[in-house]
Amino acid sequence: MSTSTLEKHSKALDAADDGASHTITITLRIRRFNPEVSEDATWQDFQLEMDPKERVLDALHKVKWEQDGTLTFRRSCAHGICGSDAMRINGKNRLACKTLLKDINPEKPITVEAIKGLTVLKDLVVDMEPFFQAYRDVMPFLITTGNEPTRERLQSAEDRERFDDTTKCILCAACTSSCPVFWNDGQYFGPAAIVNAHRFIFDSRDEGGEQRLEILNDKDGVWRCRTTFNCTDACPRGIEVTKAIQEVKRALITRRF
Ligand code: SF4
Ligand code: FES
Repeated sequence: MSTSTLEKHSKALDAADDGASHTITITLRIRRFNPEVSEDATWQDFQLEMDPKERVLDALHKVKWEQDGTLTFRRSCAHGICGSDAMRINGKNRLACKTLLKDINPEKPITVEAIKGLTVLKDLVVDMEPFFQAYRDVMPFLITTGNEPTRERLQSAEDRERFDDTTKCILCAACTSSCPVFWNDGQYFGPAAIVNAHRFIFDSRDEGGEQRLEILNDKDGVWRCRTTFNCTDACPRGIEVTKAIQEVKRALITRRF
């Protein structure tokens, strides 16, 4: 890259910090896969003029709307709430809508590919069904036996705090698809399902904790976790995923939760 180009990029990155709008040329390197065209995935580069303050999702939109309408990816809310745009960006699981270009070295090609461990259907879209099946399997809903309350079910602030962290999950699959155990055979329940089991196991109003613990005591359950912390690093909501898994393991041993 020439000195003048470097200066231009450096000024644009500085401008990103002072709030002004400037653009730089970025290269988005996307792993493309279309089973109707080829059995093999290939990398394709797209050059784009982008403001470094924009997000990877904005760059993907620009490719789709201006260069190649066949580019396929999921997104809905565009604000880190729906969890539909988890992808590997520069080799790390992130939400495209929460990743600013200026934070991932836009002077080098930015790689974008589908999350791992789930079958790629097309480009950045994977089959999420095994992920959601594991979620359904842990019964992610309040279980009570009778005694319908006439008012809300009361809970102390301390009891609510017990599972506060795991209520933040948006089911993006960034954790599960960053887990080497899940990559191995896809049979492991995976961090996200355990996080969502945790959310109810430690809820003082719930009565299904024993059932959920038994489900996770399975050979593909919580004991397969190797505590690599990939899941915690990947979570865009900052959930302490590995800690939640450890708490479920401890509850299985002590039967106290
Ligand atoms: S725990 Fe975090 S990374 Fe995993 S699915 Fe929930 S929000 Fe996504
Ligand atoms: S599009 Fe909804 S979380 Fe990114």
